Amino acid sequence: MTDQLRPDDTVPAAPELFTWEFAADPYPAYAWLREHAPVRRTRLPSGVEAWLVTRYADARQALADQRLSKNPAHHDEPEHARGKTGIPGERKAELMTHLLNIDPPDHTRLRRLVSKAFTPRRVAAFAPRVQELTDRLIDRFAQRGSADLIHEFAFPLPIYAICDLLGVPREDQDDFRDWAGMMIRHGGGPRGGVARSVKKMRGYLAELIHKKREALPAEPAPGEDLISALIRASDHGEHLTENEVAAMAFILLFAGFETTVNLIGNGTYALLTHPGQRDRLQDALARGDDELLATGVEELLRYDGPVELATWRFATEPLTIGGQRIEPGDPVLVVLAAADRDPERFADPDVLDLGRRDNQHLGYGHGIHYCLGAPLARLEGQSALATLFTRLPDLRLAADPAELRWRGGLIMRGLRTLPVEFTPPG
Ligand code: HEM
Repeated sequence: MTDQLRPDDTVPAAPELFTWEFAADPYPAYAWLREHAPVRRTRLPSGVEAWLVTRYADARQALADQRLSKNPAHHDEPEHARGKTGIPGERKAELMTHLLNIDPPDHTRLRRLVSKAFTPRRVAAFAPRVQELTDRLIDRFAQRGSADLIHEFAFPLPIYAICDLLGVPREDQDDFRDWAGMMIRHGGGPRGGVARSVKKMRGYLAELIHKKREALPAEPAPGEDLISALIRASDHGEHLTENEVAAMAFILLFAGFETTVNLIGNGTYALLTHPGQRDRLQDALARGDDELLATGVEELLRYDGPVELATWRFATEPLTIGGQRIEPGDPVLVVLAAADRDPERFADPDVLDLGRRDNQHLGYGHGIHYCLGAPLARLEGQSALATLFTRLPDLRLAADPAELRWRGGLIMRGLRTLPVEFTPPG
């Protein structure tokens, strides 16, 4: 018996998180956590201690558990970390009172209202515009035979798409591109350029919403933009206030931007480094078979999904996850990318299989906060990858994968640059 109480030296040491190596490939560390410490209290680079939940079953349960609040006011924040945690919402600006920071019943009311305006039908009608944008961006570099696909493609596509959908006039969209660029380069830190960008975006949106409200016709015109639809949306006579519309527009930009950049960036990179899967996709596209594209984008989300940041939750009462007791006020981070490689849930989880069928991944979350923008993200992801690999069939990496730099790891995982080469289309 005593033997079993000795420290087990066959268990490898806990991996270091948040290093460069971790950002480049967090999956070995996630495998260790899932196996040896599936609910682990961890000090994040910001100084905050949070529980990391890495197994699929625990993650799914935690995402749906109403005792875990999205409202940062429930965070029992230690003095040393105050104001430095990067936890969304702690800035307390009115723009931060949005879907991802609130609980029922406020969440239920706001989500119902926004769902009336941001419908799958509206997104489907937007498909030609996304295709046009995708083509226009590729046109800009196609004849050069090389590009940085993050800066020239993955980054501008979602920001222009959301601006268009919201009804931001074309001539102002480059301002959004700059503000968003500032946010993505410097992360969610509350100070300096990021704060200035958020402030400018807020000012702009408030003015735009006000103007649109003043000019709103009594009946919706066909193809009315999303901001107007949000102003118009009502539920049992209830409407969104101008502030709520602004917060909603902001969260759509914020939640729908870097995530989609990374879906396109990580997805393209995964295809470029898995030639068998890439050939399979190109063959299917050449045959006009879009099914593999649809299952493929889901698989790319499972295999190397963009999000972790948005999963902050705070215990409002004592609870147990995966046998671990969590105290009220404790932050919990569900590590979606770790859950989505859990061998208890997915067969051969480290294998990229674009045709994977049993693929209920958590890349878009689960429960009442399930990604509202999933139909738009799918549309953009599918359009981007299909067009890229059809128009530039011999697309290849122009850098050693070991030299590529990744942003994030745990917060939001994506490439900083993705240099490629190809034969310019004739
Ligand atoms: C929520 C992922 C694109 C808008 C979420 C959540 C995840 C997620 C994981 C849930 C977070 C949680 O439960 O804590 C993604 C991924 C995307 C993507 C991987 C791209 C590949 C978009 C787009 C939009 C969007 C394009 C809108 C334009 C939202 C909103 C929420 C949300 C508004 C909050 C929903 C709520 O709290 O009720 N997303 N998202 N997302 N997403 Fe996305």
